[in-house]
Order: sequence, then structure tokens, then C-alpha cells
Amino acid sequence: MTRVFSGVKPTGHLTLGNYLGALRQWVAEDQHRSDALFCVVDLHALTVDHDPARVRRLSRQAASLLLAAGLDPELCTVFVQSHVDEHARLSYLLECVATDGEMRRMIQYKEKAARERVRGGSVRLSLLTYPVLMAADILAYGADEVPVGDDQAQHVELARDLAVRFNQRYGHTFVVPRVTLPKVAARVMNLQDPASKMGKSEDVGPGIVYLLDEPDVVRRKVMRAVTDSGSEVVHDRAARPGLANLLEILAACTGGDPAALAAGYSSYGALKKDTAEAVVEVLRPVRERHRELCGDPGYVEGVLRAGAEKARAVARPTVDAAYRAIGLLAPEEDVVPEAVR
Ligand code: TYM
Repeated sequence: MTRVFSGVKPTGHLTLGNYLGALRQWVAEDQHRSDALFCVVDLHALTVDHDPARVRRLSRQAASLLLAAGLDPELCTVFVQSHVDEHARLSYLLECVATDGEMRRMIQYKEKAARERVRGGSVRLSLLTYPVLMAADILAYGADEVPVGDDQAQHVELARDLAVRFNQRYGHTFVVPRVTLPKVAARVMNLQDPASKMGKSEDVGPGIVYLLDEPDVVRRKVMRAVTDSGSEVVHDRAARPGLANLLEILAACTGGDPAALAAGYSSYGALKKDTAEAVVEVLRPVRERHRELCGDPGYVEGVLRAGAEKARAVARPTVDAAYRAIGLLAPEEDVVPEAVR
């Protein structure tokens, strides 16, 4: 069976971008057709200036939201990254396979490091090595597929490169994963600035729809979305990015095609109104279920505990095999896998 792995980083409240770009596919498709693991990647939240209490709060909230969005612990494994030591164990080995030049070329590193420097802060070393930890997340589980939004494609590409390189140098150890992107809304843009991604780490902004926004807040944000000059409704990402973003959000929420949907509108106002209502309806059950789960923290904790146990059992043999393959001695009690003896 195909193995799927993906994750979400608790650096801010989850957004419509996270939902349409990733979560929705995990819920509707991946958990049903594959052996899937979904992770709140809390170690990644420590790569930028952080407040410990906030990371804890956001980690709990992200886990509840994954369940509220419809991940079913009977069908897939939901857990928190720091509960499974294998991520950090493998990350170090992969740092011994990756190069510093490779890390410095990562687009997200360049963007985030530049932002931190503008703020006058220092850049954490972990921000540079972050993609290696992400590769470890993926490779530890032998994932065949990694369903993510477009902004993570370069990181998954790196995980592929590291898997291939490790296998060539030290013998076949890792599955080489591939990225899977949603057909529409692989990159949801900020409603106030269609040139930038709708990102949860940014400051609270009128251009970001959060999964837990009340319906009226969602309506206001969508109705005030920046659109392009012109009046004809067409789907053209390059020339009309604001409009294209709304059409893609509507298409993702209703299951249509952005260009075909455009043909049905003669005004921006009507498109915005329908898009706002479509988003409200998509988020309504998530918000309601999240409210229920908040009243039952023991349930979420239980899911995460059981998830971590299952995840550990999957990752352990692969990471142990990598330790042996790269030349580290097995502790006596370890059973050395036949292939790497
Ligand atoms: P993160 O937490 O930024 O985002 C979680 C998922 O949401 C997608 N996404 C978007 N998709 C479309 N439009 C947007 N505006 C948008 N914003 C976010 C992301 O592409 C992602 O799929 N490094 C990862 C987390 C991670 C991970 C992993 C993912 C760590 N280890 C291993 C997969 C496999 C991240 O920061 O995602």
C-alpha cells in the first residue's frame, strides 16, 4: 500500500491556504487510499523566534484542527513530531549527507532569513538546516508520496535528492518520495496582496482567512479582497492575480474549474459574494467540530499518544537501518537487519 506522510507546522493559526493546499486532500483522499501519517511538526516551530507557551498552545490547536477537519484516527496516524525521537535521530545523519550550499539555495530559507535580518534579529542555525529535518520526517517513514502545497515542493525535492545520495553511498535504505500537489489552490495567495502566499506565520492580517474565523469575519475578508483593475471576469494568474486567487479558492471549495467558473460571472461583486459563502460553508463543520473537541481534550491527547506509538514503530527500523548503513556500530541489544549486516 502507498505510504503517505505530511505535516503542518505550529507557528501560527492554520489558514485557508493550509486547508485548501494540503489538509483537504489528506482528509478526502489520502487517508482513504493509503497508509497515511500526519504530523504536527513542532520541532520546526523552533526555527524562528518563538514563545514556548504559544508553541504548546498552537501544537494542541493544530492537532485538534487536523481531527476537526476530518482526519480519522481509525484510518490514519496523527501525532506530534517531538514525541517520536526518530526525526531528530535521522536528521543528524542526513546533515552528514547534505551540503551547506544545498541548504543556502532553499527559497524559504532565503526569504525567511532576509525577513529575520530586517527585523534586526539573528538567524537560527536550525532555520538553515530545517529542510534536512523535513527530509528526515519523510524518509523515516518510507513515504512514497508527500501531499503538500506548492511552497513545499522544493523541500520534498531535497528529500528525494538526499534519499538517492544516501542509497548510492551506503546501500539501499530509503524510499525515494515524490511530491503530490492539489489540482487547484496549490498556492493560495494573500487576499490583500495577491503577490504573496497566504501564510500563517505573518502577522494577523485582513488578507489571511483563518480556519477558526467566524463566518462574518470570513465574509468581510473575502469581500475586501484586492482585485485587479478591469471588470471582465477571467482566469489569468499572471495578468489578474487577485481575481485568479478568488476563482481558485471558489473552485477548490466547490469542486469546479477556475476558468469555467469565470465564464459564469459578469461582476467582481457576485464572484466575491459566492466565494465568501463557499468558504464559510467549507469551514463551518471544521469550526463546529473543533469547538466540540476543545471540550474533550482527553480524546485528542489519547489520539496523539496512540499515534506516536504507531509512528515510532514504523520509523524505528528504517532509522536503525540508516545508522548501521552509514557506519555506526549497533549497540549489542540491537537486532541488526540482515540487509546491512
Ligand atoms: P506549513 O505548516 O507551512 O504548511 C502546511 C501545509 O499547508 C500548505 N500551505 C499552503 N498551500 C496552499 N496555499 C498556501 N497559501 C499554503 N500555505 C501553506 C503547505 O504547502 C503544507 O503542505 N515544512 C512544512 C511542514 C513539514 C512537512 C514535513 C510537510 C515539515 N515536515 C514533511 C510534509 C512532509 C511547512 O512548513 O508547512
